[in-house]
Amino acid sequence: MEKTDDSNDYDWDKEVEEFEKSKGGVKGLVDSGITKVPRFFISPPEPDAKPGPHPDALIPIIDLEGVRGGLDHKVVGAIRNASRKWGFFQVVNHGIPTSVTDAMLRGTRALHEQPKEAKQDLYTSDGAPDVRFYAINGRLEEGDAASWRDAFACKFIDGEIDPELVPPVCRGEIMEYMKHMIKVRDVLSELLSEALGASKELLGEMQCMESEYLTCLYYPASPEPDKSLGTVAHSDPTVLTVLLQDDTGGLQIKHDGCWIDVPPVPGALIVNIGDFLQLMSNDKFMSVEHRVLSRSKGSRVSVACFFFPRGQEMANIYAPVKQVISPNNPPIYKQVNYIDFVTHYQKRSSRGGHSALANYKLDSINYCID
Ligand code: OGA
Ligand code: NI
Repeated sequence: MEKTDDSNDYDWDKEVEEFEKSKGGVKGLVDSGITKVPRFFISPPEPDAKPGPHPDALIPIIDLEGVRGGLDHKVVGAIRNASRKWGFFQVVNHGIPTSVTDAMLRGTRALHEQPKEAKQDLYTSDGAPDVRFYAINGRLEEGDAASWRDAFACKFIDGEIDPELVPPVCRGEIMEYMKHMIKVRDVLSELLSEALGASKELLGEMQCMESEYLTCLYYPASPEPDKSLGTVAHSDPTVLTVLLQDDTGGLQIKHDGCWIDVPPVPGALIVNIGDFLQLMSNDKFMSVEHRVLSRSKGSRVSVACFFFPRGQEMANIYAPVKQVISPNNPPIYKQVNYIDFVTHYQKRSSRGGHSALANYKLDSINYCID
């Protein structure tokens, strides 16, 4: 008898293992002509989602033109407001030429559209290598949903990578893009420091955004777009994310309980607060849940650059910064080092991509059992 996806004898681990063994990722499935989404990609319906999206809710678009010669109070205010109310904003006039962002998006597509043979040696769900392709990051527990997209990731620990490790098809584009990302990071670091009520040097001196994890993402069309999600709902565990998306759309954030679109804005970069910065800001800034919808036609590419603490300093202790603490605003989080924090995220993400923040609340009982 032919086994259906609905049968009780669905062997989750075997299906996932076969997919992983193929080393072809989601694009490999699509290229093989599948007409149904395998069950381990199917996201369960969200019981508490409000009907949405809000037609008029739009994340702030902030013009950085004024800040390149020095900090601008209006921009700091806009960033403070956006980081508190939305956790997401778009920036324009950030100084990266469109030739660089266009080349990065084209390079991402070229990376993923190489023949499978060119990618499979770097294909692994194990996070250890500095450079790799993957679809599933780590182990996919039964009941979790995989994202309908492929990723290529490079780790820049303390900002460094051996360029020879990066596939030539996108090497120049990635190295050039990262030079610009560092400049944008420096500008955002100053603006966010001031938005926290500190001097512009605060976050730079804390060295909390000196390593980068760059992911070049490729979202193939889905044969059943209502059943899969391009990226399942999650918040980013890191300090800050700078995202470049192409002009096709699909990214949504949860705002007031509704999913709202983050529409493509030509030339813009999307910035979002990560869980770790929410902790350092004592909830003054919010790390919000987001996801990417699947589409029935055409593919989407995006490039996410995650910033996190320097390698050697990752064992450093971070806590809500003193500038956000007052008698009326006592610290709500414990001290933590980044490695512990991310380890908890990964454990909890096996239950659906939740942040580790609740685990570090000062009044919480530590419920993550090792
Ligand atoms: C991520 C993410 C969004 C996108 O990789 O964490 O949220 O648009 N990506 O690809
Ligand atoms: Ni994300």
